[in-house]
Amino acid sequence: MGKQIKTVGILTSGGDAPGMNACIRAITRTAIFNGMKVMGIYRGYEGLINGEIKEFTSESVSNTIQRGGTILKTARSMEFMTPEGMQKAYDNLVKFGIDALIVIGGNGSLTGAQNLAREYDYPVIGLPGTIDNDLYGTDSTIGYDTALNTIVDCVDKIRDTATSHDRIFFVEVMGRDAGFLAQNSAIAAGAEAAIIPEDQTDVDQLEQFISRGFRKSKNSSIVIVSESKKDGGAMYYAERVRKEYPQYDVRVTILGHLQRGGTPTACDRILASRLGHASIEALKEGQRNVMVGIHNDQIVYVPIDRAIKKDKPIDKELIDVLGVLSI
Ligand code: F6P
Repeated sequence: MGKQIKTVGILTSGGDAPGMNACIRAITRTAIFNGMKVMGIYRGYEGLINGEIKEFTSESVSNTIQRGGTILKTARSMEFMTPEGMQKAYDNLVKFGIDALIVIGGNGSLTGAQNLAREYDYPVIGLPGTIDNDLYGTDSTIGYDTALNTIVDCVDKIRDTATSHDRIFFVEVMGRDAGFLAQNSAIAAGAEAAIIPEDQTDVDQLEQFISRGFRKSKNSSIVIVSESKKDGGAMYYAERVRKEYPQYDVRVTILGHLQRGGTPTACDRILASRLGHASIEALKEGQRNVMVGIHNDQIVYVPIDRAIKKDKPIDKELIDVLGVLSI
C-alpha cells in the first residue's frame, strides 16, 4: 500500500472535450467529500511546468456542469515531452504538495501521465477525455457523445440541401486516427456511406459506394469521411468523383472545430460525473497508473499503457449495419 493521498491535482490536456467540466466538478467534490485537498492545474502540463496551480473549493466548480470546454484550460505541451520539462513538472507537484495527479485527456495526454508515473514512480490516474473515443478499454470517452450529436445535427441540415439540389456531399469529421465519430454519425444521420481507416479491405471505398448503386434509387447522397484518411479526406474523394463521374454534382463540408465545443449531452455529463467520482475511489483503493473507464455500464480500471495503444477496434457489425441500411 502506497502513501495515503491527501492532496490531488487535476489537469485537462490535449483537445478540449464537452464534459471535461462535469468531470473536474465530480473529482473536486468527491475529493473534498473524502477530506482531500484539491489543486487545479491550469493549461495542462504547460501550467504544471509553470506552476499555474491554485486550490479548488466546492464553489470553484459551481455552475460548470453544463459548460463545454474546460475551466482549467488546456494545451498540447511540447516542453513536457523533454526530460527537463518533465522534471520541472514533477518539482512543482512536490512543491505544491500534490500526492497524486488526475489527468483528463486523450491519447497524448495519458501517454504523458504514463511517462511521469514511470520516471518518478508517481501515482497518476487517467480519465478518458476526448471526442475521438479512441482509448482502449472504455466503451466511451468524455465528449464523444456530444460530438456525435453535434455531427448528426449538422448532417441533418446538410441533407436538406443535398436533397433539394440532388447532390453528393462529402462531410469530413474529426477523430484523428480513429473512425468512431465517422462510422456512428453515418448510422445516426442515415448517411449512405462512411469512409473510415479501420475498414481495411482492398476494395476502394469510393468505388464501393458508387457501385452499390448511387442514384439507382436516390437523388442525393451523404458520405461521411473520417479526417484520419491519410489520402486527403473529403476533398480527395470529392475531387475523384468530379474527375471520374463528372455527371454528379459534388460538395464538401469540413465540420472542423465546431464538433468539439458546446453543451455536453446528458450522457456525457453522467459519464464524466461517474468517472470523476470513480477516480477518487480508485485512489482510495490504492489504484495507481490506471485509466478509469466504463465497460458494459460498469466502472473499470485499465492500465494506462494498455489504454493508449491506439488499437481500440471498431465493431465490424456497425459497418455491416450501415451497408444494409443505406441501400
Ligand atoms: O483529439 C481531438 C481532436 O479534435 C482530433 O479529433 C483532431 O484531429 C485534433 O484534436 C485537432 O487538434 P487541434 O485542435 O489541436 O487542431
